[in-house]
Amino acid sequence: MEVPCIIGAGYVGLTYAAGLALKGFKVNLVDVNAKIIEKINSGICPIDEPKLPDVIKDAARKKTIRATTSLMDVFEESDIFIVCVGTYCDAKGNIDLSHVKSVAKDLKECFEAKPDVGYKVICIKSTVLCGTTDGVFQPILESSGKVAGRDFGLAMSPEFLKEGSALDDILNPDKLVIGGLDARSIDKVRKLLGVFVPDDMPERIIETSLRTAELIKYAQNSFLATKISFINEISNFAELFGVDVGDVASAIGLDRRISPYFLNAGPGFGGSCFPKDVRALYTAGRKMGYSPLLLEAVLQVNSRQKNHVVELLGWNKEIPGSIICILGLSFKANTGDTRESVAKTVIPRLLHLGAREVHLHDPSSHAREELKREFVPDEKIHYHEEISRALENADVCLILTDWEHYKNLKPSDFEIMNENAVIIDARRILSRRLFENSRIKLTTLGFSTNKDFVPS
Ligand code: UGA
Repeated sequence: MEVPCIIGAGYVGLTYAAGLALKGFKVNLVDVNAKIIEKINSGICPIDEPKLPDVIKDAARKKTIRATTSLMDVFEESDIFIVCVGTYCDAKGNIDLSHVKSVAKDLKECFEAKPDVGYKVICIKSTVLCGTTDGVFQPILESSGKVAGRDFGLAMSPEFLKEGSALDDILNPDKLVIGGLDARSIDKVRKLLGVFVPDDMPERIIETSLRTAELIKYAQNSFLATKISFINEISNFAELFGVDVGDVASAIGLDRRISPYFLNAGPGFGGSCFPKDVRALYTAGRKMGYSPLLLEAVLQVNSRQKNHVVELLGWNKEIPGSIICILGLSFKANTGDTRESVAKTVIPRLLHLGAREVHLHDPSSHAREELKREFVPDEKIHYHEEISRALENADVCLILTDWEHYKNLKPSDFEIMNENAVIIDARRILSRRLFENSRIKLTTLGFSTNKDFVPS
């Protein structure tokens, strides 16, 4: 049986290694981070992601995942390499391909050190802009003297998994996109990654060119980000017009052309993907002399929405001198990832506006630890493992992430807050009905009873 090699043990690479191990493969997993490799080989999952810890533990016991820092050691054994390293981009949207390039160089060195190895296929799964696979990766590999299409195959298969449901998403994909240099490369990837697609759904496998596959990824993330910014814009209208945005989203989502997914208004999208990918596509367009007006608006609406949360808070409570409890530090529920989370924007803003103390809670210890590195605990910044400790004596509770733990909170759980305390529910997860008779005032983002607007 094929022994695939996954390069990069982050969310995507680790989940793929786990998914392939579950499908009965022995997998080589390469990462430059020795600490992560050691953890995986000892059966410890290095990220906070549902379902992965059990699979990683089992894989270590059965030795189905062999994690290593040396690509050279596993190069001969594997004939297919799936590149899952991160791509980053700066605030202006300039993409940083250093990890992708470094993998290309490592593979080139392997080809040079082992010139007699047979045909290998290298498939990029990292999110890369159009032209990266054939314009950046391929030339580096070919500088080894090997020729693409003859000595090795090249493919690009974008990934669509979501953090928080990564393993489920891989095991039940809506589609598998394979861009390839040639049919042989595509076939090889299809044989491996096709194991996740049900046999009776071959239409879910889409074969394309390398560049088309690259653009599909950016188009999909940009579209979803647009959907979120769109509903957030409507949410702001709902607040102006005395409407509940949830009712509007439910109704428009019933139209199959729209669909109900990704129509939850909230404090703006975060994470390691949407903000980075929309910025990168926007900037790539600008570099080619094109003005991506829609993407620009999507980003602007998103950044305004993060500030709108603070605005909502300010309308309900004086920020200077207030003790503020923030529930939710990760960028969304079920992950310990805090990259571009709303909390990271809101915390410094509140402190700048004069908040007396911020009390921070997240069910994920990863999220708390990540934030502690950026916002070091002091007399103003406090971290809590228990929700009740974070809420105690607070003037405001700001809900930023839709963890199950918060959805189940009842008015009595907030009784430990100060007199005249308010809750700002930026994730729209608490039932307003339950709070009707509570002394704590609940404000829900995207809802108001304001009847001021009457067309003239
Ligand atoms: C996103 C995509 O959904 C995946 O398909 C893709 O593979 C991934 O990026 C990637 O490119 O690697 P992810 O960032 O893990 O996945 O999380 P999402 O569930 O998409 O959420 C992104 C942000 O949008 C979060 O801040 C979330 O709270 C927000 N969101 C999502 C909303 O505000 N409203 C919604 O209706 C949905």
